[in-house]
Amino acid sequence: MPKIFALVPAAGQGTRMGEAFPKQYLPLAGRPMMFHSLETLAAVDRITAVIAILSPMDRHWGAHDWSAFPDKIEALFAGGATRGASVANALAMLEGRAAPTDWVLVHDAARPCIGRELVEQFLDEVGDDPVGGLLAMPLADTLKRSEGLLRVSETIPREGLWRAQTPQMFRYDILRRGLARKPEATDESQAVESVGGMPKLVQGANANFKVTFTDDLPIAEMILARRVADEETSS
Ligand code: C5P
Repeated sequence: MPKIFALVPAAGQGTRMGEAFPKQYLPLAGRPMMFHSLETLAAVDRITAVIAILSPMDRHWGAHDWSAFPDKIEALFAGGATRGASVANALAMLEGRAAPTDWVLVHDAARPCIGRELVEQFLDEVGDDPVGGLLAMPLADTLKRSEGLLRVSETIPREGLWRAQTPQMFRYDILRRGLARKPEATDESQAVESVGGMPKLVQGANANFKVTFTDDLPIAEMILARRVADEETSS
């Protein structure tokens, strides 16, 4: 059975939030934001290791308690200038530990509301695909292009368009080749596409949104609180 290595890129500066420190450490439901993704991934038995990719200058990791995940979580102080560089650095460090057909699952630290069930469903649906796949949502809104001046210059048909989420999971070998070919890729799928891979689309969830602006924090809090309440009811 191929192993699954989960990478959580968390080396961004989070400047869009206008905060003094990176958004992955902003308090969310009593924990730093990235705790929630790490906890969910660590709870999935099929995942061998969960690796947080941190900035080499990170000053926050050590200030928090990660002891809830004794053997599974690793901190790698090897983030790069872009998200792609952060993931590529982690892949280089996995050389020799990951076989070419092992899986690398990448999940944003900034998507804290992913639930364990959705991760399990994603893993089931990607199954033994030769390439891998990603969570994504079919586009519900009508898309407009603007060439500037806040005026619509074009409507883009939404048929066949999806919004990519994470997790995204690919075989170690193709992801490494993809990121070498397209280091500027804004997600792993784009890197894999650049070397001819056709990633599988698996339906995601609106709750798995990327926390980007300060206004997003209370929404993420509500989703996490509802999950805890549901788990308490069902146990
Ligand atoms: O900035 P954005 O929201 O697109 O970042 C997506 C994820 O990639 C975040 O979890 C962020 O911490 C991470 N990232 C990274 N290294 C960078 C830039 C972003 O690990 N240089």
